[in-house]
Amino acid sequence: MLANLPAQPADALLALIKLYAADERADKIDLGVGVYRTGQGETPVFGAIKGAEKKLLETQDSKAYLGPEGDMGFVNALKPFIFGEGFAKIDQIDGMQTPGGTGGVRLAVGLAKKAGIQRVIMGTPSWPNHAQIMKDLDLDTVAFNHASGGVVDMDALKAAIAAAGPNDAILLHGCCHNPTGIDYTDAQWEEIAALLKDKGLLPILDLAYQGLGYGMEEDAQGIRIVMNAVPEALLAYSCDKNFGLYRDRVGAIYVMADKGAMPAIMSNGASLARANWSMPPDHGAAAVRVILEDEALTAQWLDELDQMRTRMRQVRGRLAAAGTAGSVDMTPYGTQNGLFAMLPLSKEQIQSLRDDHAIYMAGSGRINVAGLTMGNIDKFIAAVAEVSA
Ligand code: LMR
Repeated sequence: MLANLPAQPADALLALIKLYAADERADKIDLGVGVYRTGQGETPVFGAIKGAEKKLLETQDSKAYLGPEGDMGFVNALKPFIFGEGFAKIDQIDGMQTPGGTGGVRLAVGLAKKAGIQRVIMGTPSWPNHAQIMKDLDLDTVAFNHASGGVVDMDALKAAIAAAGPNDAILLHGCCHNPTGIDYTDAQWEEIAALLKDKGLLPILDLAYQGLGYGMEEDAQGIRIVMNAVPEALLAYSCDKNFGLYRDRVGAIYVMADKGAMPAIMSNGASLARANWSMPPDHGAAAVRVILEDEALTAQWLDELDQMRTRMRQVRGRLAAAGTAGSVDMTPYGTQNGLFAMLPLSKEQIQSLRDDHAIYMAGSGRINVAGLTMGNIDKFIAAVAEVSA
């Protein structure tokens, strides 16, 4: 029986981690999977997390089960950072902890499906796992072009919303679009929010990089604008990047709906979680909660996040200052956001960067800008110029 299973291709992005590790060239550059790196190329544990872990070690007196919703102290402590202090509709929002942002997306899409959604409208390109999750849940998808020439394609988005049917939902990236780094402006979010409201279209918002674009407040404006306008929304959240907790899998789902309907909605969330993973892993979420309950640790975390963002802006500035490299115009990267940027390179050019220059990036042409340092960026720009000349 089991031997009948056809082989599946390895996840291309995760496979890059191993390919890079196996490369013995000393000057190799990893621009693959989305993890932050310092100017020294490291991905250290946040000092604030170390402080919280120390506290946890001293004070945690049990590891008994918490339940499918996980650590509600964590879920609630994040709310003011995501929705803002004094968010008018905060009493219409409830949440649950999930295994990473992926768990949040999985639960959001699963809930939408249980509620009757049959099709999800998605920008392309998108994080490849979005489409994979829809496929696994047997949901159809319909694509619209996310961006062209370095700017958001609002016409394509508006046409997709206009063409939406009654059983459709729309998936939107809250900030630091993965893979393009091209985000909506606040004015565009206002326009989108009004269209979603008029159409009665359910938004599924993915906020996986809050704080990595322009700041914790700035990066949440889009989802706040949408959630202010519409009656119902689902939001998948990740702490993997903004707390550097990648492998600890720390995320959440937030649901906004009529207050009276919330207990029934969340009971569906709990049963989906139980069937999928029963309960989310505790440690990382507990560490985030400890940080958010402690003023000094919160200040330390925000400071560390500031440093990450500043470094990524510097790298983006250097790329933009290079102007063009071969046929690639690097100037738009300066004003784009977050970890990612898309290089308009062919498969052969991307392969040549790997084979001839030991530069690893996703097969789509996506680079993780945090993989660039003052020590390797000139080599990178020269290599792009060479392969794309
Ligand atoms: C990425 O896109 O590199 C990250 O979101 C990591 C992942 O799980 O794919």
